[in-house]
Amino acid sequence: MLSGDVAVLVPAAGAGVRLGPGGPKALRLLAGEPLLVHAVRRVAAAPSVRVIVVAAPAADVPAVRELLEPIAPVTVVAGGAQRQESVALALAAVPPDVEIVLVHDAARALTPPALIESVAAAVRGGHPAVIPTLPVVDTIKEVGPGELVLGTVDRSVLRVVQTPQGFRRDVLVAAHAAAADALTDDAGLAEKMGVPVVCVPGSEFALKITRPLDLILAEALLHAD
Ligand code: CTP
Ligand code: MG
Repeated sequence: MLSGDVAVLVPAAGAGVRLGPGGPKALRLLAGEPLLVHAVRRVAAAPSVRVIVVAAPAADVPAVRELLEPIAPVTVVAGGAQRQESVALALAAVPPDVEIVLVHDAARALTPPALIESVAAAVRGGHPAVIPTLPVVDTIKEVGPGELVLGTVDRSVLRVVQTPQGFRRDVLVAAHAAAADALTDDAGLAEKMGVPVVCVPGSEFALKITRPLDLILAEALLHAD
């Protein structure tokens, strides 16, 4: 066990379809090491972190335990068919006395420990739900049938959302208990319950490795780090 007061859930059970053939994404190599190793090393380096729970592809649970053994003390559970299910399964393994839970993506393998700290600090400071975000850099159009432009969206009120997303534990538990349909992030579940969700500044290093180009970008960022 590490020494902080925060649990970090790391869903890592996805297939990585958009990255192309080559096995589960969390186990794909970046500079010779699996993405999950990069991610967990950075999570463990954040002083606030006490517990790390990884949701791995069911068939890879023993291999992932072995892989992470030299990196940090980690609980590994089998994930589910959807990310939300993997998060819920990891959440069930958090010890009862932990009050702050962060939900992270193994695919955001280069997320700096400082970002994990700032999300944790915002929850500790009284915000029930916290998300790291970046401004939108591109112009965004709304389109209708036939790809006809309906209008230009005011991007100053838009944000790109990253992880880790931080929650008071009771809020995350209630959000998952109430979740009917699958959403792409956990804060969306909290929003639906009327819980205020606050943004903190995200990081370019927290990009989600999704497509082959992202691996090239991540490799470059690794050397810039
Ligand atoms: N994830 C998970 N369980 C699932 C699906 C996704 O734990 N059933 C995890 C992924 O391992 C990843 C994170 O959720 O760390 C974000 O998902 P995404 O980037 O979509 O990863 P994949 O689902 O693996 O990729 P793809 O959608 O391209 O298959
Ligand atoms: Mg996916």
